Amino acid sequence: MKIFETHAHYDDESFNEDRDHLITEMLGASGIIDSIVNIGASLKGCKDSLALAAKYDKVYAVIGIHPSDVEALTLNDIEWLGENAIKNPKVLAIGEIGLDYHYEKPSKSIQKKWFIEQIALAKKVNKPIVVHSREACQDTITIMKQEDAKSVGGIVHCYSYTKETAKDFLEMGFYFGIGGVITFKNAKKLVEAVEYIPMDKLLLETDSPYLAPEPNRGKRNDSTNIPFIAEKIAQIKGISTAQVIDKTNENARKVFHLIQ
Ligand code: NI
Repeated sequence: MKIFETHAHYDDESFNEDRDHLITEMLGASGIIDSIVNIGASLKGCKDSLALAAKYDKVYAVIGIHPSDVEALTLNDIEWLGENAIKNPKVLAIGEIGLDYHYEKPSKSIQKKWFIEQIALAKKVNKPIVVHSREACQDTITIMKQEDAKSVGGIVHCYSYTKETAKDFLEMGFYFGIGGVITFKNAKKLVEAVEYIPMDKLLLETDSPYLAPEPNRGKRNDSTNIPFIAEKIAQIKGISTAQVIDKTNENARKVFHLIQ
């Protein structure tokens, strides 16, 4: 069974040497990937994501500006995102957007401003959001509640918080992107969260080229590593890997409105 990859960055320069070959192989007759959602993080990343989606039938784009890249963002840029989200049916969501307090820049207030602005954009164009949240749990939940993110729904990508926090996102109807971190030895907290989150809210993702799962940790990641993540979730949930793939594929098509 082929796999729906919900979060990758094939526009990244680390794929410059073999991008087309890799994507063609993965999506080809003998490849294991059904569809790829390429996620924009910077304005350039968004343009590149749109180009990849135009080039490959089974590649989709999500466009939005990552919290670490919002420093120079303008309302004109937001307008450009909105125009593309409306006119291009292969744009599935607005993202990745959110808060990242791991680094001190951009300031928290700038990050919050553009997170709020981009949730408003998603509501305007009626698309779900893909949320990046790192070391910013409480502010992320507060803003999502205040801005009624529930009305568009979406994904908390690379979920890294506790099962208690998962409850807040579940109440807003959100899905959880689970990546390579789940295979790491120190992932106890995340394993507990995945035990707790219902199977119909889990998604498979790699965040390629980052966060390759064990046994490939530290190497460049790509979507062919997804089975390691699916196997780990299958262990945690006490079901087969095929069942994990089947259910998460269905979840992916639901969250991105590719099926009802
Ligand atoms: Ni990402």
